[in-house]
Amino acid sequence: MTQPRDHQPGDHQPGDRIAPDYIAPDYIAPDPLVAALAESLGVANVLTDADQRAGYETDWTGRFHGESRCVIRPASTADVAAVIRLCADHGATVVPQGGNTGLVGGSVPRGGEVVLSTRRLTRLDAVDIAAGQVTVGAGVTIAAVREHVRCVGYDVAVDFGARDSATIGGAMATNAGGSRVLRFGTMRSQVAGCEAVLADGAVIGSLAGLAKETIGPHLPSLLSGSEGTLAIITMIRLRLVPWYRETATALVALPSLVAAVELLPTLRNALPHLDSVELLMPSAMELVCEHLQRTCPVDDRAGAYLLIECADHADPLDDLAGVLAAAAPDSSTAIASNPSMRAQLVALRDNVTVAINHTGTPLKLDIALPLAVLAATTAEIERIIAELAPGARLINFGHLAEGNLHLNTLGAGEASGAITEAVLQRVIDAGGVISAEHGIGVAKTHWLVAQRGAPEVAALTAIKHSLDPNGLLNPGVLLP
Ligand code: FAD
Ligand code: LAC
Ligand code: ZN
Repeated sequence: MTQPRDHQPGDHQPGDRIAPDYIAPDYIAPDPLVAALAESLGVANVLTDADQRAGYETDWTGRFHGESRCVIRPASTADVAAVIRLCADHGATVVPQGGNTGLVGGSVPRGGEVVLSTRRLTRLDAVDIAAGQVTVGAGVTIAAVREHVRCVGYDVAVDFGARDSATIGGAMATNAGGSRVLRFGTMRSQVAGCEAVLADGAVIGSLAGLAKETIGPHLPSLLSGSEGTLAIITMIRLRLVPWYRETATALVALPSLVAAVELLPTLRNALPHLDSVELLMPSAMELVCEHLQRTCPVDDRAGAYLLIECADHADPLDDLAGVLAAAAPDSSTAIASNPSMRAQLVALRDNVTVAINHTGTPLKLDIALPLAVLAATTAEIERIIAELAPGARLINFGHLAEGNLHLNTLGAGEASGAITEAVLQRVIDAGGVISAEHGIGVAKTHWLVAQRGAPEVAALTAIKHSLDPNGLLNPGVLLP
């Protein structure tokens, strides 16, 4: 008969229960959720190493960062439903992430969430030519959808500088705007249907894309701008617009923002093919020229610059030139419809945000004001910022037709909080909005009640609780 003896390290057999005092001090117990996710998606699609996770944990601006529990990369709606069910079973919180180009910190973890990357949701169906629609995975980039649909003569209505990385799902989740809103509306107007996964793993929505339906509240509208807090959008039925192959672009130097606003009604009325009216204030023009190492192609002593585009099936250059000659005869203007010359002009606008990030980490505000008070309120805001942070550099630019200004303050330092408070309150008082297109994210939750009022925030919170009672989807984002 074998005599019992004391255990010695290393003498156990496979399958033996190991006594706690045998566990190495640096031993980390396997995370049962991570193991279940790996079983569901395959280990290659569950990233746990710090260096693999790093790119998903810091936002594009470098202002927001947090560690994730792991990063998961599902490739279909069924995958998303399965992993969300596992996360729900384990009570795990989830941050949805598309291209991670968002500017308000909503796409990166705050600490310990699972990051669900949509970048493998890349289904691209054939364009429905009769309907002028296409069904795409939420993780397809705006540029990729555009390339796909242009093959058959259609185009995507929403466009902005981050088009090569930003996803169609991210654009819907933030109700992105960009340069063509005056012609086609924001992302919300482009969504004819969607499929999405709720916090308990249930799949909802329709991709039928019928242009007319009155069967209760419109789910795609509810999810547009919900910033990942109500559901994970997995597929989108996208409404398309004609691809106007001919575009004319003009850069116009104007004496002031007042003059820029005054030009707007003429552009709208006289140019049926008007596609965008983008604004660069002198500080933005100066910075982007520095960054691109170029000289300003028009008079560099202007008070405001407009980048105006018309797009049509026939070259709209003469129409645009004629309207500008009549409406702004004394303005210094560069105009082109030749693609490479146009690209030079467009690059000045597209690269402002990149130039700012290259220079420093700014305080970023994305406001919209009624056009009637845009110039006066902007002047007041400039004074407020100059008083609160005398040494700071304010770079402002935006989308003029919507009164949407991006106010970027470099070197705001400790005055950041006071600037944000004073500027956003001034914007609300002037009848404007504290976020025009970037969203609330984690950056602006504090001002949501001031903007929308307590009853409306309570209604939004009730919707959130009914769809996600345990608060698993993007906690800390959008709602205070
Ligand atoms: P992410 O940054 O990954 O996510 C943004 C938010 O959406 C997060 O809250 C995230 O949780 C949520 N989300 C993402 N995908 C899903 C999904 N499938 N389901 C549910 N929630 C999801 N924005 C504009 O509106 N107009 C502009 O002109 C513009 N220009 C930009 C220029 C530059 C250079 C940069 C860097 C950004 C710009 N942006 C602009 C901001 C940004 O590109 C948009 O907000 C874009 O829509 C985000 O898409 P994304 O795929 O990167 O989303
Ligand atoms: C732009 C981004 C910052 O308009 O929204 O360039
Ligand atoms: Zn913008």
